[in-house]
Amino acid sequence: MKILITGILGYIGSRLAILTRDKHEITGIDNGYAAQISKIDGIDLYNLDIRDHKKIESIASKLDLIVHLAAISGVDTCKKNPLLAHDVNTLATINLAWICRQNQIPLIFPTSMAMLGDPVKFPIDEKHPRKPKNIYGYTKYIAEQNINLYAQNSFPAIMFMTSNIYGHHIIDGKLILKNTVINKFIGLAKNGKPLTVYSPGTQARDFLHLEDTVRAYIDVINKINEFKNEALTMTLASGKSTQMNDIAEIIFNEAQKRGYKTKINLIKNPRNNETLTDNFKINISKIEELINFKPMFTIQSGIKEIFDLKY
Ligand SMILES: NC(=O)c1ccc[n+]([C@@H]2O[C@H](COP(=O)([O-])OP(=O)(O)OC[C@H]3O[C@@H](n4cnc5c(N)ncnc54)[C@H](O)[C@@H]3O)[C@@H](O)[C@H]2O)c1
Repeated sequence: MKILITGILGYIGSRLAILTRDKHEITGIDNGYAAQISKIDGIDLYNLDIRDHKKIESIASKLDLIVHLAAISGVDTCKKNPLLAHDVNTLATINLAWICRQNQIPLIFPTSMAMLGDPVKFPIDEKHPRKPKNIYGYTKYIAEQNINLYAQNSFPAIMFMTSNIYGHHIIDGKLILKNTVINKFIGLAKNGKPLTVYSPGTQARDFLHLEDTVRAYIDVINKINEFKNEALTMTLASGKSTQMNDIAEIIFNEAQKRGYKTKINLIKNPRNNETLTDNFKINISKIEELINFKPMFTIQSGIKEIFDLKY
């Protein structure tokens, strides 16, 4: 298949590119805004802004599938650049959905649990009400709504409502990672620094390993012709809730085993509106049913894998 991956030089896109390039003809778009590398062997790369509607249209019209990952990703980055986040995450995504509609090109797009705001019902499923509390969540929510409208009777749009992703990967000897809590704690432990858990420490999240995340993308790519011409959202998560205290303890124990000296410090929570629920349960039965999704990593094996990664 001819597949376009936007945001191909980022955390998820680069891993997806590596794992699909042998089987598919992959083209990538990235403007370098948050790129972690400058090229990927075997991939045709356009140094292009996703907001360049005309150029994107001329590239896209010849494709079998678009995986749209280019974004201003994360709550804090969007808060610092709200207009850019609106332009890239919302407007450019709506334009891309329009291109998909005009050319009947299937689309895969990640949204985020940030669309939900403070969850009002557990386990969280695809129908959970959207009430974003930040710009990032709004950009994803507005994109989701518009994709829903444009996809109707025109193209399959598979949207992953994604939980917290962790894990590292390596390209040409370079470590590719995001500074999210698990990755950050492992870095601190390896450098002999304390793991600072925000009080009360019982706050829980769902953490999904990058490899499991990317496998879900690949499974949807492989089944794309089985989906109807409409939008479909699936939660993409491990289905397991883990408290921050437990994350810190697992990392502390793994660090100790390897001779790294660290400790756990419970500190005053600097975030005044963090969701503090102690059981962040996500229902993953839809993705299990539709693509037979089953995470390979537990939180313990995922953390061990990061400690042992050689590069
Ligand atoms: N990583 C996570 O935990 C997570 C969780 C939920 C959803 N997502 C979503 O998954 C997608 C990919 O996430 P990621 O973690 O790989 O993000 P990332 O920031 O690592 O990668 C995004 C890529 O998009 C590129 N980009 C940004 N603006 C662009 C523009 N205007 N034109 C072209 N390229 C542009 C960046 O240079 C970067 O390489 C994003 O939509 C993100 O919101 C990620």
